[in-house]
Order: sequence, then structure tokens, then C-alpha cells
Amino acid sequence: MSAPAIETNGLVKTFKDNRAVDGVDLTVPPGTVYGLLGPNGAGKTTVVRMLATLLRPDGGEARVFGHDVVREADTVRSRVSLTGQYASVDEDLTGTENLVLLARLLGHGKRAARDRAAQLLEAFGLTEAAARQVKKYSGGMRRRIDIAASILNTPDLLFLDEPTTGLDPRSRNQVWDIIRVVVAHGTTVLLTTQYLDEADRLAGRIAVIDHGRVIAEGTPGSLKASIGSGTVHVRLRDGAQRPEAVRLLAAVLGTDVQTEADPVALTARAGVEGSDRGAAEQASRALAALAEAGIVVDDFSLGQPSLDEVFLALTDRPIPEEVPA
Ligand SMILES: Nc1ncnc2c1ncn2[C@@H]1O[C@H](COP(=O)(O)OP(=O)(O)O)[C@@H](O)[C@H]1O
Ligand SMILES: [Mg+2]
Repeated sequence: MSAPAIETNGLVKTFKDNRAVDGVDLTVPPGTVYGLLGPNGAGKTTVVRMLATLLRPDGGEARVFGHDVVREADTVRSRVSLTGQYASVDEDLTGTENLVLLARLLGHGKRAARDRAAQLLEAFGLTEAAARQVKKYSGGMRRRIDIAASILNTPDLLFLDEPTTGLDPRSRNQVWDIIRVVVAHGTTVLLTTQYLDEADRLAGRIAVIDHGRVIAEGTPGSLKASIGSGTVHVRLRDGAQRPEAVRLLAAVLGTDVQTEADPVALTARAGVEGSDRGAAEQASRALAALAEAGIVVDDFSLGQPSLDEVFLALTDRPIPEEVPA
């Protein structure tokens, strides 16, 4: 059996008295996308920086393809790539100039460097922008050229630290397509994200991290089965009917119903494990039950659970405030 792409045991990193990473155990199988999901300040980047040998752990251990990140840092470094760290793109150069320059620095011959640059620009949908300066790229194009630069030499393990944060939906989709292409070529990807839907779409397994600790780990399916695959949001015409609506929804959905500060609003998780019906069918039954009871509904929607809802389900409290540095 081949070694895991990443294996950590009790990994710790402390900044002064802040245990930013507080005993993390991870096992990442090779050839997959592994999602590290957590809010701002959870410790995701600190984990990545230790795995990429940029930061020395204060406790525990970490191995990348069986190599210790401290004792065998050079070997680890030869097998990994971190977007925006090892490969930095120059804003004043064009897409082609950047990739050719970096390929030459990595030891490719002139011809091979030009070929590799053209191939990546094509694969990442940047051929038309190839001759344009990177400072004129959109946010989505910029993320794509960053990823292209980090895989000039196909790494065995690629760290993508929040590659889509702040991007519009179309650009996010393009970055997702690229991640799929990278993995199809055999690279293992450690993806950090604040979006459950992103981890759900791309990752084979997900670890949810909170205050430097893994609070849940598993496949997206198992995670969603424990927290619900959807969330029902309801707004009533008349707040006086809310207690009755809460009772009905709890009975139909089989989950707790949250009342919100807004006196006509309710939310509840749907599609939780143990129910034999899917979230959409449960939601439509809930809506029918409200109508039958004469409760007027002004707005009703079924959405993916947000990271807030994941945290509420896993920890019984909202997303933590970031610890002030
Ligand atoms: N270089 C640093 N010096 C001091 N504190 C840091 C440093 N890097 C991160 N931290 C703190 O460690 C915690 C985790 O940060 P980080 O790993 O960046 O979280 P995430 O990437 O999940 O947003 C935060 O409380 C952050 O303020
Ligand atoms: Mg971060």
C-alpha cells in the first residue's frame, strides 16, 4: 500500500498563547481532493503552511508521502506546490511571459517552456488573454494563472488555500473545473475553503475545523447525513401563527425548528439521516401541512446548508468569532 499523501498526528502550532492548530490528526489518501472546511481564523492556513514546510510545528508530526515535514523538508518541498507561494506571478508581465519565465527557472528548455505555457493557458481557458498583462486580468483569471503557475511541474500534492474566496459564481465554476483537471492528472489536492458546497462538489473527504481542532471528518455524504442536506426557510404572513407552524414543521421534518429574531421567520434542517425521504420531498410535505392548517406562507425556500448551519449542527453554537491576534 502506498503512503497517504498527508498524515498528521497531534499537529500543534502556537502563536504566543494562541493554539492556532491544536492537535490535528488528518489522513489524506493520494489522488483525491481533500477539503479543509472552516471559518476565518480556524487554523486552515497554518496547517497548510506546516505541511508545505514553511512553518515549523510546535508539537505532533506530519508526513507528506511518508516524509517528515521537518526532518525531510527538502524531499517534501520537491513534491508539493502551494499556489501564490512558490510560484509568484509578476503583474507587469503577460500570461505567457510569466509561465515561460517560471518554467525556465524550473529548468525547462526554451522550447519546452513555451510549449508547457501554451498548454496550460489553453487548459485554463486563458489563450485569449495570453498576451495581456496579468494586472489587467479579472479576479477569476488571476486565480487561474496562479494555479497554472503552481503546476508548471506537475506536483504530487497541490495546496489550494481558499482558491475561490471572493470570486463571482462563474469564476468559481472555472476554478472548480481546473481543480478537477489537476486531480485527473494524478495530483492530490488539499483544498481549504469556507464554503460547504465547494467542498461538497470537489472533495472526496472533508475535515471541518474549528479553533484549530477537527470537529468532524468524513465524506460529504456522511457529513450531510449528520447535519442535513438542506435547510428550509419559511416566512409567515402572521407571526401569531408561528408556534403552530413550529409544531407542524418539527413533526413533518423530524428536526428541531429554529425561530429567528424576525417574528415571522423560521428555519429547519431537512434531509437528516434517519428519514426515508429526501430533503425536497420533506420540504414539499411541510409546505402542504402548513397550507392545510390554514397558515399563510409568504416565502418558502429550500437551500443548501451554509457553513453557519454546519457549525450550529455540529457544535450547537454559531460560527466562532475570530480570535484576535
Ligand atoms: N503569523 C502569525 N502570527 C500570529 N498569529 C497568527 C499567525 N498566523 C495565524 N495566526 C492566528 O492563528 C489563527 C489561525 O489562523 P489561520 O491559520 O490563518 O486561519 P484560517 O486560514 O483558517 O483563516 C488565527 O487566530 C490567527 O490570527
Ligand atoms: Mg487562511
